[in-house]
Amino acid sequence: MAGRVEIVEVGPRDGLQNEKRPIPVAEKIALVDLLSRAGFSRIECASFVSPKWVPQMAGSAEVLAGITRAEGVRYAALTPNMRGYEDALLAKADEIAVFASASEGFSKANVNATIAETLERFEPILKAARHIDLPVRGYVSCVTDCPYDGPVAPAQVAHVADRLFAMGCYEISLGDTIGKGTPDSVARMLLAVKGVVPVGRLAGHFHDTSGRAIANIDVALALGVRVFDAAVGGLGGCPYAPGAAGNVATEAVAAHLKRLGYDTGLDLDLVAEAAAMALAMRQA
Ligand code: HMG
Ligand code: MG
Repeated sequence: MAGRVEIVEVGPRDGLQNEKRPIPVAEKIALVDLLSRAGFSRIECASFVSPKWVPQMAGSAEVLAGITRAEGVRYAALTPNMRGYEDALLAKADEIAVFASASEGFSKANVNATIAETLERFEPILKAARHIDLPVRGYVSCVTDCPYDGPVAPAQVAHVADRLFAMGCYEISLGDTIGKGTPDSVARMLLAVKGVVPVGRLAGHFHDTSGRAIANIDVALALGVRVFDAAVGGLGGCPYAPGAAGNVATEAVAAHLKRLGYDTGLDLDLVAEAAAMALAMRQA
């Protein structure tokens, strides 16, 4: 065995948030319940953002209330501000995620704030979470390219990752939001970020828009990253990132890692079942 690699399942959040059809809460719950049996330790299934901005995530509290929580699985929610944090606590999220951008254009489009303003909003969230031992994950979006600003400098990604880590985020997930990263640009970005955040605290979050997500995962693996976000069925995208179709598919990443000899602890038959369910949700 080449060692352990964790896949964080983000399909019920990043996967579904961009779907046009309003997906009934019961369908989301069924997907999360199936995923809960597949061996994931972390499933991102909620987002306490403005329903005006992302209508699909409006039922997040109902999803968290309706799922059957499996032992050893942490159910995560995105929180853009204190209001989202409080809603996530009420809904009993096991962990939360704050999200910032490495580029100003995407920051403005996604959360109507500058990078600096976003980081300021996170300070009280991290402080409150620390008091109750609630794990907080930090996302950095547009780590190689931005749909508005173009190529993003590795130093800028390192700066935002460093701030989130210093604030207390236990892990920094590096998002190639629009799937434009190449093995070369991902490597340059990771080398910069590794200089400020230990590689054991980094995760790769690749969208497969250009079909390079697996190649980018390989580069990240070679540089020591051992956690990757993925969405069953390759669902996904970000409503404020034109062209950000499709997180890399969990089933493809799991199969690839298995071929390389890594242990993900996942039941690949159940992952395939969940992928089929996710795709059916898209087509319904
Ligand atoms: P705003 O319009 O600048 O702020 O939105 P506001 O304070 O004026 O609030 C607007 C309305 O939203 C108000 O309601 C607030 O009460 C309400 P109104 O008075 O108009 O009726 N509001 C909220 N409602 C529910 N929950 C909340 C909340 N906060 C305010 N937490 C805001 C600012 C941040 C709220 C907005 O821009 C927003 O919700 N953005 C979220 C966008 C989003 O979710 N994007 C997708 C996730 S990021 C992503 O997918 C990337 C990632 O996958 C990594 C990668 O791929 O790179 C993570
Ligand atoms: Mg994403």
